[in-house]
Amino acid sequence: MSDHLTIVTHPLVQHKLSIMRDKETSTSKFRQLLREISMLLAYEATRELPTHNVKIQTPICEMDAPKLEGRKLALVSILRAGNGLLDGILELIPAARVGFVGLYRDPETLQPVEYYNKLPSDLQDRWTVVVDPMLATGNSSAAAIDLIKQAGATNIVFMCLLAAPEGVQRMKEAHPDVRIVTAALDDHLNDHGYIVPGLGDAGDRMFGTK
Ligand code: URA
Repeated sequence: MSDHLTIVTHPLVQHKLSIMRDKETSTSKFRQLLREISMLLAYEATRELPTHNVKIQTPICEMDAPKLEGRKLALVSILRAGNGLLDGILELIPAARVGFVGLYRDPETLQPVEYYNKLPSDLQDRWTVVVDPMLATGNSSAAAIDLIKQAGATNIVFMCLLAAPEGVQRMKEAHPDVRIVTAALDDHLNDHGYIVPGLGDAGDRMFGTK
């Protein structure tokens, strides 16, 4: 595994992911598992967040204890499926600022088309975790990260549930500085741009649409 790609092989993550992949899993169960898995992935994605020591008093003595450096995290959800990963991370880090980038994939060209962009104004001062469950062709993720970098972000981690080798390669070429954290690296993309074996359309699975 390269520094560019971190696969979270923890048994809890893998167990939850297997249930999510199963086509018989209900929408509500899928959403619940996504929320749980996002917290476990966030644990890895935020591993390098800076801390500083502050003096505290335990019941026993005074100590220098590490705390996160202020409100230094931004989360950016790539709509709409990214929102499913957002809730769990926000539970862990409620002070994070949140931005949204709306991109859809043109079904013919598979290229990303932007329809929404609302990002925190001070991204240059923050660590930014970009969330989107499916890293498929990588085109929309790479385009979203272009926008996020244009808005000033320099320290970016990309967090997803599933990645295809094609998407990882595309991101590595477009954004070699962005670490990818994922629960699994699947086999390939099919002719419609879906990850195989995958879990289907993540947005449809989490929102019950078709
Ligand atoms: N987006 C999805 O929701 N699923 C895929 O398999 C690929 C892209």
